[in-house]
Amino acid sequence: MMGKTGVVGIVILQMCWQWMGSSEGQRLVARLDLPPPLTGPESLAFDSIGGGPYTGISDGRLLKFENGTFLEFAYTSPIRNKTTCDGTSDQPETCGRPLGLGFNNRTQEWYIADAYQGLVKVPSYGGRPTQLLTSIQGRPFRFLDALDIDPSTGIVYFTEASANYQLKDMQQLLSSGDSSGSLLSYDPGTGQARVLLRNLALAGGVALSGDGSFVLVTEFLANRVIRFWLTGPLQNTSQVFMLLPGRPDNIKRNPRGEFWIAVNTPLGPPSTTAFWPLGYRVNSSGFILQIVPLTQLYQNQEVSEVHEYNGAFYSGSLLAPYATIFTP
Ligand SMILES: *[C@@H]1O[C@H](CO)[C@@H](O)[C@H](O)[C@H]1NC(C)=O
Ligand SMILES: *[C@@H]1O[C@H](CO)[C@@H](O)[C@H](O)[C@H]1NC(C)=O
Ligand SMILES: *[C@@H]1O[C@H](CO)[C@@H](O)[C@H](O)[C@H]1NC(C)=O
Ligand SMILES: *[C@@H]1O[C@H](CO)[C@@H](O)[C@H](O)[C@H]1NC(C)=O
Ligand SMILES: *[C@@H]1O[C@H](CO)[C@@H](O)[C@H](O)[C@H]1NC(C)=O
Repeated sequence: MMGKTGVVGIVILQMCWQWMGSSEGQRLVARLDLPPPLTGPESLAFDSIGGGPYTGISDGRLLKFENGTFLEFAYTSPIRNKTTCDGTSDQPETCGRPLGLGFNNRTQEWYIADAYQGLVKVPSYGGRPTQLLTSIQGRPFRFLDALDIDPSTGIVYFTEASANYQLKDMQQLLSSGDSSGSLLSYDPGTGQARVLLRNLALAGGVALSGDGSFVLVTEFLANRVIRFWLTGPLQNTSQVFMLLPGRPDNIKRNPRGEFWIAVNTPLGPPSTTAFWPLGYRVNSSGFILQIVPLTQLYQNQEVSEVHEYNGAFYSGSLLAPYATIFTP
């Protein structure tokens, strides 16, 4: 069912966007469509030889984009029933819902934060998952969201969006004022997990700094990014890294050690700004270097990620049926 329809879509849209020009900043280069009714390429990742993007989707599978189309790659739930799960847009928990993903190029394994199935890994060639962690200090995870991997140590940094609400309760979570999210780490060498920060207001995204000295975590419901120090005199302490005018979701480091943050409409009355969602590029001091409106790519839909890789710019969404490649 992973057909070639997306390829046709790419060509037509490309011509259309080039004609319309780029007066509002971004320009669509290609739209990577999922076969209907699949949705939600929430985050994007690449393997150690630059293949991909790989992404997790609504029916619980991981897909790899290759030769102009999405192909089935792996899954995250050990109890997933392919017959009932494949091709669903609103699936039961047992199908899994992969959100954060990253490749450990030392062990050649994928690590995945699954909203329902906890922290799992799959081999570089895909297929069956191994569940690594489904609880912390005796408490089962409710809603894992994002992850990043330290390439030098293999330590996985990941977030639990909330300890009270699950992904399927997102609407309640958004209006709850919940602050039970956390930032955690998992060391594959020892199997040890650690809680680094608690009381986060929907811990949405996580990114390690280029030098490994700190990790950033976004608070979707608090419009801010927190910095947790891993080394140096401030080790194990945290401060506000930056405040934002909207809700930050995933945060991704680029090859220059800067970060891209997907920022969405603030909660409450409609904003006066016509240009939500936005991509923010900031340096490792939290200084804003660039703001890119993403409305032409997603209209007013949520954008979960902006990802710069190998000179190209990608974006993903928790709800839209496509990812994009664009020029900022
Ligand atoms: C693994 O990733 C690190 C950091 O991105 C990079 O320096 C290294 O070359 C990579 N190794 C391989 C085998 O791709
Ligand atoms: C994609 O194209 C390359 C080059 O033609 C080929 O080697 C590879 O097998 C193709 N992959 C798939 C999944 O068809
Ligand atoms: C998967 O679901 C189908 C349809 O409900 C059922 O017939 C089949 O036995 C299930 N497979 C497993 C392994 O549970
Ligand atoms: C930070 O926490 C780690 C893990 O608990 C501990 O080993 C380390 O000594 C702590 N560092 C400081 C400066 O407290
Ligand atoms: C971030 O940018 C600001 C403004 O240009 C600059 O003062 C600061 O040194 C930069 N930080 C880093 C780590 O490059």
